[in-house]
Amino acid sequence: PRGDPVEGELIKAALAALDCAYAPYSKHRVGAAIETRDGGIFAGCNVENASYGLTVCAERTALFAAVSAGETAFARIVIVSSTGRPTPPCGACRQVLAEFSQDLEVVMVGGKSEKRAWLSALLPDAFRKVKKGQP
Ligand code: THU
Repeated sequence: PRGDPVEGELIKAALAALDCAYAPYSKHRVGAAIETRDGGIFAGCNVENASYGLTVCAERTALFAAVSAGETAFARIVIVSSTGRPTPPCGACRQVLAEFSQDLEVVMVGGKSEKRAWLSALLPDAFRKVKKGQP
């Protein structure tokens, strides 16, 4: 929820990751911090490449850091960028986030304003593998 102390921690972690963004080509730096269901925080930045298409977004870097530490249940992700405006996650990141949590809160923090949305609203009807015996 808005203004809770954990959200402050998430914003701090996302801003610290933003400082590490590797974006010499686009100059568009992004930081993200994802909160696990049990209150853990994992951050990531965008990492570009001279072969542009190999670039990985901040949201996926943060998610993959968390998954690499054994976490698979998430509550919230905070995104900040060097534009200073609320930055919505790209379509690819929405799909990758939806693999783990449909009810993820996405908090897009800008200097003067912020936007909040549920992942299920940003990516309705996400593609998912249905396991046998599931409705
Ligand atoms: N980028 C992100 O990190 N997250 C997004 O959701 C959109 C785009 C990065 C990728 C690239 O390094 C730069 O922003 C410009 O597209």
